[in-house]
Amino acid sequence: MATRTGAWAAVAGAAVVAVLSAALALYGSPLDAVLKRAFSLHNAHSVRGMEDALQLVRNVVPPLTAKKHKGQDGRVGVVGGCREYTGAPYFAAISALKVGADLSHVFCTQEAAPVIKAYSPELIVHPVLDSPDAVHDVEKWLPRLHALVVGPGLGRDDVLLSNVKDILEASKARGIPVVIDADGLWLIAQQPALIRGYQKAVLTPNHVEFSRLSEAVLGDPLDGQDRRGAVLRLSQALGNVTVVQKGERDVISDGEQVLECSQEGSGRRCGGQGDLLSGSLGVLVHWALQAGPERTDGFSPLLVAAFGACALTRQCSHQAFQKHGRSTTTTDMIAEVGPAFSRLFET
Ligand SMILES: *[C@@H]1O[C@H](CO)[C@@H](O)[C@H](O)[C@H]1NC(C)=O
Repeated sequence: MATRTGAWAAVAGAAVVAVLSAALALYGSPLDAVLKRAFSLHNAHSVRGMEDALQLVRNVVPPLTAKKHKGQDGRVGVVGGCREYTGAPYFAAISALKVGADLSHVFCTQEAAPVIKAYSPELIVHPVLDSPDAVHDVEKWLPRLHALVVGPGLGRDDVLLSNVKDILEASKARGIPVVIDADGLWLIAQQPALIRGYQKAVLTPNHVEFSRLSEAVLGDPLDGQDRRGAVLRLSQALGNVTVVQKGERDVISDGEQVLECSQEGSGRRCGGQGDLLSGSLGVLVHWALQAGPERTDGFSPLLVAAFGACALTRQCSHQAFQKHGRSTTTTDMIAEVGPAFSRLFET
């Protein structure tokens, strides 16, 4: 089982690394390689096995009971969806519902709304993102939302990005957890200050998005050798915002711990898997924060939520691939959310 002692060991380890970094600054770069080895070695001790990490996720999943009223298990909002992209916000919002949110909203442009509505009668779709009152229109829903997923199918239109910036500010002011993906990350790379130090943010970059963020925030070309160190450094440089670097293994850090998720997935890399991840994460972040650090054994609830969403996405991919092989698409993976969830978290 995971223990608090592990967490303390990691904190102590981080202090040692800080001292070593200071020494490095004094003595120059020959120590670099040594430091990096020490760094990953130290982190290897703080990472628990997949099974222990999965148990932490199980601890935050709320039980289904007849006593609750609609909405208690999560009302999630997805901000994204424009003329070109309607699939991504749909995938994110429907994944949130299937993981267990009670209500799932999409805030998209006027043009995208009827298309997204037509995909599903289960989503609440607001055609507001390109309206002159966009920020106000979204803001009035914020008191009713437990988490926002920002970026799926957002695109890079300046007006939309500027509205999203204000929506992010409004969400931060209310302490609403935000998951940022896709073109939401493009916005963060332009203006890292938007998210820096916000403890309820999780960023979910793929390789390209991670490099872009890394360049913008650290001015570093990416060090492909040490992914754990790179993710830890980016998280710290952003004031310990939780970062999930998606890849062959998913690497997750909250600026203190580094977790890796190596749940077996599949070789399929079709578009839309990231939306399944961000949508699931929206719900899990809410659950984990609600459960609190007592249920996550002292680990950051966001770290545990991120691990859960990564494991779930991979398990969906694995199961869908067993049925559909090479023709597997995100729709097939979303059909596996229920069985994959029970398999991982309800055993
Ligand atoms: C981030 O976490 C590290 C490790 O716990 C800590 O040393 C650092 O002060 C934190 N930074 C912020 C901005 O909270």
